[in-house]
Amino acid sequence: MTAASAANATTPPQTGSAARVAVPGATGSAGPVPAHGPAAEPTDLCVVGAGYVGLTAAACFADLGHRVCCLEASPARLELLQRGRIPIVEPGLDHLVARSVEEGRLAFTGDVREAMADASIVFLCVGTPPRPDGTPDLGQLERAAREVVTATTRDLVLVTKSTVPPGTGEALEILCAEVAAPGQRVDVVSNPEFLRESRAVEDFFHPDRIVVGSEDPEAGQRVAALYEPGPPVVLSDRRGAELVKYASNAFLAVKISFANEIAGLCERLGTDAGPVLRGVGLDNRIGSQFLSQGPGYGGSCLPKDLSGLLAVGEAVGYAAPLAAAAEAINERARRSVVEKLEVALGDLAGVRVGVLGLAFKPGTDDTRDSPAVDLVNLLVERGAAVRAQDPLAAPIALPAPRVADPLEAAAGADALVVATAWTDYAALDPATVGEVMARRVVLDAVGVLPADRWRDAGFVVYGVGRGAPTSFHPVVWAPIEWALRSRAEAAGGDGRVVASA
Ligand SMILES: NC(=O)c1ccc[n+]([C@@H]2O[C@H](COP(=O)([O-])OP(=O)(O)OC[C@H]3O[C@@H](n4cnc5c(N)ncnc54)[C@H](O)[C@@H]3O)[C@@H](O)[C@H]2O)c1
Repeated sequence: MTAASAANATTPPQTGSAARVAVPGATGSAGPVPAHGPAAEPTDLCVVGAGYVGLTAAACFADLGHRVCCLEASPARLELLQRGRIPIVEPGLDHLVARSVEEGRLAFTGDVREAMADASIVFLCVGTPPRPDGTPDLGQLERAAREVVTATTRDLVLVTKSTVPPGTGEALEILCAEVAAPGQRVDVVSNPEFLRESRAVEDFFHPDRIVVGSEDPEAGQRVAALYEPGPPVVLSDRRGAELVKYASNAFLAVKISFANEIAGLCERLGTDAGPVLRGVGLDNRIGSQFLSQGPGYGGSCLPKDLSGLLAVGEAVGYAAPLAAAAEAINERARRSVVEKLEVALGDLAGVRVGVLGLAFKPGTDDTRDSPAVDLVNLLVERGAAVRAQDPLAAPIALPAPRVADPLEAAAGADALVVATAWTDYAALDPATVGEVMARRVVLDAVGVLPADRWRDAGFVVYGVGRGAPTSFHPVVWAPIEWALRSRAEAAGGDGRVVASA
């Protein structure tokens, strides 16, 4: 792609010449994205897939001064991009795309030959969704690799940004050797992506680390050199880099499940998981992030990568019991939200429930493997009449109607469940909500509501990790025994405590 053809390929929605651009948050928050580049050595790149990862990488690499052509297979997505629209919700991305398109460094196409016209480095950013058995489906990756390699006779560095099981790089190398033109060299490099949806641009420019895995040091160095210098760069062999991504996501999943395990204990001990987990997380060796109770982890990455890790462990004959436990605890966390409602309302058949939230977390439109969507499904399975609402979630097939406003979801409901921690929900007026509901019951699964205000408005408030006091249990039997013994001794007895005491 030449700079001229890039500039002609799309119609920019606006110019982007400002040195700093505002990053509008999905719910209105804003932050600056400094202008970047020029890159030390501007390079012609092809990015395959314009999803959360690919579109972000394409826009950010272009902002660093590289010339990027982004290949997208979905005609609907491509049409939006070529009209200057952004098909996903990601703060700041629209400005970055506009700026680089305007300045001729970024173009979008559905034509692989056009995408590969000048590229020497290709980033594969296609989906690697889970199969029903939990193993990753690498079909998109295989097709994308085949297409780009056969579209040129130039030597290539083929980089997997998609999350893949360790060993995928070797498989891609074999595939490329089969389909490459005579004499064409293809180096396969792993460069896993760690961005978080809703902060993807910021994470791209300020990553905690850049991981590059390659069997050929020069190919690895070329990929590492595309980024702005600053963050630590971890160089490894290819399998190692692929495993870093699986291991990181598995650790995050374990951390969330651990928090939910402690939260479950808190419920049974009659204490509040909030301060408990805060007290744990403030230990610098542990850290507070990903250490809070809730309806479990979700999204397109953690569940899929954890089950991918489990499948890899099984394949190489080395079980991963910690990862397996995290998965089981996560399923329990999702189910327990419904079970709490059953405690509150009895049999859920015919009960009307308003569900606030569908996105897997606030700040994104992504509903893939969302605990909130799971909750809607579980409630409907039990016969509840559900109305769901979300301010931003992408359109999705639901077994229940989706309404536009939280009050519409609450109207006539026997209970309201908050399933995504949107700040909009924290600002709801409980008195107004209570007026439209049939019963004042609220279950805040994500801990976003000011519980006292809702209680003051007459609500019975349920949450995750907040228990009612329970009776003594065997583990605290010893102190009770001591107390009883002291009493018996004071009364002149022999100090022995009988079992019935
Ligand atoms: N979403 C995240 O937060 C995140 C973070 C880190 C890593 N990842 C990993 O990155 C990969 C991509 O994730 P995503 O969320 O961006 O997926 P996505 O589904 O949002 O985007 C993938 C895009 O690739 C396109 N595509 C598929 N095959 C193609 C082909 N042959 N040619 C051109 N386009 C093609 C699809 O149409 C789609 O637009 C996955 O492996 C994921 O696990 C995702």
